[in-house]
Amino acid sequence: MEIYLDTGNVDEIRKAAETGMLSGVTTNPTLIAKEGRDFKQVITEIARILERHTQSFTVSAETHSTDADGMVKEGIEYAKYHKNVIVKVPMTRDGIIAVQQLGKRKIRCNVTLCFSPNQALLAAKAGAYIVSPFVGRIDDHGGEGMELIEQIREIYDNYEFATKILVASVRHPGHVRDAALLGADIVTLPATVFEQLFAHPLTDKGLEKFLADYRKSQAALEQGKRA
Ligand code: G3P
Repeated sequence: MEIYLDTGNVDEIRKAAETGMLSGVTTNPTLIAKEGRDFKQVITEIARILERHTQSFTVSAETHSTDADGMVKEGIEYAKYHKNVIVKVPMTRDGIIAVQQLGKRKIRCNVTLCFSPNQALLAAKAGAYIVSPFVGRIDDHGGEGMELIEQIREIYDNYEFATKILVASVRHPGHVRDAALLGADIVTLPATVFEQLFAHPLTDKGLEKFLADYRKSQAALEQGKRA
């Protein structure tokens, strides 16, 4: 399962990329707005950071139009920023039309704001490269976000759709574990959740004891030499 960062913040991306664990970045208009920077500048800087670590990354850049023609126009523009930029379009009727038109130009799309198995089915039939179901927002509304992932996995496997399932709107490490258990292709994480993946209190406690024991044994040896 590939791990992406869900952010427009280049410092967070640099820090995560140095671990070698990052395969891509997703952005959305809210995340870009948070940075207060020019859209094109942010997307191209993200691509430059990632290409230092891997050649097969993707950066999702989201369209702002609501009609298919507008999305296609924006998508063609974004695809010129970098060859690994993929166009994020909303899961709407127009979005599905745009995915197919962009596909004819060999431009890959990430269909976002997916909340149902039928939406994911349409995204795959349209030839989306990625579909992004939002698990956290479903949980926030009292639903079971991970059930949606399970259902999409089954549908895609039934018909051998190549569309990648990207688990988005992740809130905690439990979502990452469940995504991996269910066979999702990608998870996209806020930087805080990414950092949490490395940690376990028993790792810290265990390491502390190993180091203390090592220091103690070395000090005893030193003392023995001096005696
Ligand atoms: O980028 C899409 C998604 O991950 C947004 O998540 O936290 O705004 O529900 P969130």
